[in-house]
Amino acid sequence: MAEYEKVLTRNVGVPRAYDIDVYESRGGYAGLKKALTEFQPDQVTDLVKNTGLRGRGGAGFATGLKWSFVPKGPMQKYLVVNGDESEPGTFHDRELLENDPHQLVEGAIITCYAVGITKAFFYIRGEFALGYHRLQNAVKQAYEKGYLGKNILGGGFSCDAYTIQGAGAYICGEESALLESLEGNRPMPRSRPPFPAVVGLYAGPTVVNSVETISNIPHILVRGLEWYTSLGTAPRNTGPFIYSLSGHVNNPGNHEGPLGLTIGELVNDIGGGVLGGRTMKAFIPGGASSAWLKGDCWDVKLDFDTLGGMKTMLGSGAQIVLDDQCCVPHAAVRLAEFYNHESCGKCTPCREGTRWMVKLGRRIIEGSADSKDIDTLFRIADRIGFGPPNKMTLCALGDASTSCITSTVRQWRDEWEYHAKHGRCPTPTGKPVNLAV
Ligand SMILES: Cc1cc2nc3c(=O)[nH]c(=O)nc-3n(C[C@H](O)[C@H](O)[C@H](O)COP(=O)(O)O)c2cc1C
Ligand code: SF4
Repeated sequence: MAEYEKVLTRNVGVPRAYDIDVYESRGGYAGLKKALTEFQPDQVTDLVKNTGLRGRGGAGFATGLKWSFVPKGPMQKYLVVNGDESEPGTFHDRELLENDPHQLVEGAIITCYAVGITKAFFYIRGEFALGYHRLQNAVKQAYEKGYLGKNILGGGFSCDAYTIQGAGAYICGEESALLESLEGNRPMPRSRPPFPAVVGLYAGPTVVNSVETISNIPHILVRGLEWYTSLGTAPRNTGPFIYSLSGHVNNPGNHEGPLGLTIGELVNDIGGGVLGGRTMKAFIPGGASSAWLKGDCWDVKLDFDTLGGMKTMLGSGAQIVLDDQCCVPHAAVRLAEFYNHESCGKCTPCREGTRWMVKLGRRIIEGSADSKDIDTLFRIADRIGFGPPNKMTLCALGDASTSCITSTVRQWRDEWEYHAKHGRCPTPTGKPVNLAV
């Protein structure tokens, strides 16, 4: 793997980098100063559009394009930074919040300047107590230094920022449920269209971006277009990326590299290989919501389009290794339980379907089912759809809940059959070696 200079995580491990003095001494807020003095707002949006930056929160939507959907005019507009990270296996935003909150605050102010926004909300997962308090302090320090508030750095632009803690529901990370939560309502996703860019928080135009996406922005301003597009594969899979690596691997953790490392580079060169020198049976390439790959996927590139072309996704940016001692049906049903627990219940196919997947999955695991039940399990999963052709649900949680079932029944049908017949795992010990989620 080629040499790589860390950008997004360059301050991780630097003592007190969450304090503004240390952050500034390492070049912090130079991006904001450059944006305010050398760029018109639209030029910032164009620059971000040209970099090809795509959202790191799950859907991979083009960031600059999203910003350009916000209508022009004097109405109140909002930025909502999504820090509700809670998908199993995903932990990059937490690290950014705890170690480098000013990078996020700076990125948010630049985003507001670009889009004509004067109010930014940071919505942070309730369990991230340390990250939340460091972010709160960063916002306070940014006000004290004149980076937030009225007439920022004397350039005429004004912006306020607010920090809010969630209360531990995965669905609050879904952007429209998050907006409901911010408004003080029960967090249930909204029907779309209209999309938040047009009708969002308090019915005003709203940009929703994830913590990692926004953390890219200061570096784009400072280092420029050419640098950004030199990382990854231009034009659609560019920039730095934080891989949250976990599971049966020697060196788990957040590893930054260019977008599009191969699975072999991530797991072997950076991750130190599979635990105990064992074989990789399965690989989850984009968080618990993504379809699983067979373990011989070493040359597959971890980017949006390669994975999309394989009917899986880069999703929330989490990669999970499962070795040859793992029981696939057990691990899949464990994930199905998570989605069943987190379904908000608004749509019948998701509310009932996730429950049925768990019930039937458990029956198969216990051996009180037969081959036909595996077909039924697959059919139930296949009918909870957000995207085309089914469009049965209001948000992507419905679809996400099915990936662990459909992809494993397709590729490890023998393991599901073995369980249905014998009521035990097809692993060397006959016992489950569960996914640590
Ligand atoms: C159930 C569910 C949970 C989600 N959780 C998060 C989350 O914790 N953080 C996040 O940034 N995006 C999450 N998303 C994606 C958001 O809806 C939205 O697409 C994202 O915040 C947009 O930011 P981006 O364009 O920067 O990726 C979730 C989506 C779904 C369906
Ligand atoms: S798909 Fe599931 S989580 Fe999403 S709105 Fe419908 S019931 Fe709620």
